[in-house]
Amino acid sequence: MKALEGVRILDMTHVQSGPTCTQILAWFGADVIKVERPGVGDATRGQLRDIPDVDSLYFTMLNHNKRSITLNPKSETGGKIFTKLIEECDIMVENFAPGALDRMGFSWQRIQEINPRMIYASVKGFGPGPYVDCKVYENVAQCTGGSASTTGMLDGPPLVTGSQIGDSGAGIHLVAGILAALYQRTHSGRGQRVECAMQDAVLNLCRVKLRDQQRLAHGPLKEYPQYPNQEFGEAVPRAGNASGGGQPGWIVKCKGWEKDPDAYSYIVAQAASFEGLARTIGHEDWLQDPEWNTPEARLGKLDKMFEEIEKWTMTKTKFEVLEILNPLNVPCGPILSMKELAEEPSLRKTGTVVEVDHPERGKYLTVGNPIKLSDSPSDVERSPLMGEHTEEILRDVVGLSDQEINDAREEGAI
Ligand SMILES: CC(C)(COP(=O)(O)OP(=O)(O)OC[C@H]1O[C@@H](n2cnc3c(N)ncnc32)[C@H](O)[C@@H]1OP(=O)(O)O)[C@@H](O)C(=O)NCCC(=O)NCCS
Repeated sequence: MKALEGVRILDMTHVQSGPTCTQILAWFGADVIKVERPGVGDATRGQLRDIPDVDSLYFTMLNHNKRSITLNPKSETGGKIFTKLIEECDIMVENFAPGALDRMGFSWQRIQEINPRMIYASVKGFGPGPYVDCKVYENVAQCTGGSASTTGMLDGPPLVTGSQIGDSGAGIHLVAGILAALYQRTHSGRGQRVECAMQDAVLNLCRVKLRDQQRLAHGPLKEYPQYPNQEFGEAVPRAGNASGGGQPGWIVKCKGWEKDPDAYSYIVAQAASFEGLARTIGHEDWLQDPEWNTPEARLGKLDKMFEEIEKWTMTKTKFEVLEILNPLNVPCGPILSMKELAEEPSLRKTGTVVEVDHPERGKYLTVGNPIKLSDSPSDVERSPLMGEHTEEILRDVVGLSDQEINDAREEGAI
């Protein structure tokens, strides 16, 4: 038995943020019914296609373990079917532009009238305020949530990150809200509204930068590479590859960097293991030298320190660096490329990277459930074809006869 077995989800999500959320709930065992516009479907089915006329990896990698029904709730029969689905489901998740569900005739008030136990969860770009009506994609959220202004090299422009902290970040936050609401419902008997704005999710993930904003009022941020040689402005600056956790860290080149763009390592030169690090890189002299042998003395010349560390790492591969420094308790990690991650046997073993078979595209790799439950295994099942389960859902969940299904099809409702 899986953790969410018996929980049914009406999935009105598209693109990335909402589908991330419902995919996790599906991995936990919920029956996720993905509603797609007849003849159109989730736009990502056709986006960034690698194989003509086949569901894209964008879609397949975000919609595992779900069932798909095509349905237009704006049509008369479609509206009735949708109403029945609201009655039969526990949770509805959507991430359309603000007001889209209301325009379909299904406001939160109407949904509560149909099913008072319904948990209605939404991702939007922004919460109430000046930007509430904006449509938002990943990078807009990264820029408005504090990530871009605090990411990048010291003198460079703001940078967005490769991690989808706005889309997938908001979706994962929404999962937490939905599960809390589901638990509260066991006591209250009532559903509730669950909302997570992408700006809020990004800001939550940038929590330490808001910490630093307030520390700025009391003096310079000593662990930032700007200290002590550059002035701090009014806002938290970009800190390059500094670790941000109060321990000096940086990315250094490793053997082969001239040809391999990922031949780098991250090294944290924390005080607790500095002796071993200094000896290893051939700087035993630093241990007796008051210019180097305390964290305070090193603070003003971290760039010089990492240059010296790099002279040593450039003679080793990134994996050798790990092998040598890890036993010395020097926190470090190779910069792993997507190719290396895709091929990493340990990730295959834990199911974090899985191979899935798809009837139209064949085998492909995906990221499985990164959240491991000891009593609720997450098998990754391929994403549904568009409308693959329409009839099955209309028959078993909505209770329509074959004749009613045919009529709905002729009307264009499904
Ligand atoms: C992502 C986003 C920018 C995409 O915008 P978009 O492609 O213009 O799509 P919208 O959400 O505006 O609109 C979807 C339309 O399809 C309609 N639609 C959706 N499913 C339908 C269905 N099954 N049948 C009929 N119509 C349907 C909606 O009713 C809406 O129509 P309307 O604008 O006339 O009310 C927007 O949905 C958004 O801002 N979402 C919230 C934030 C978010 O999640 N962003 C990240 C996505 S990864």
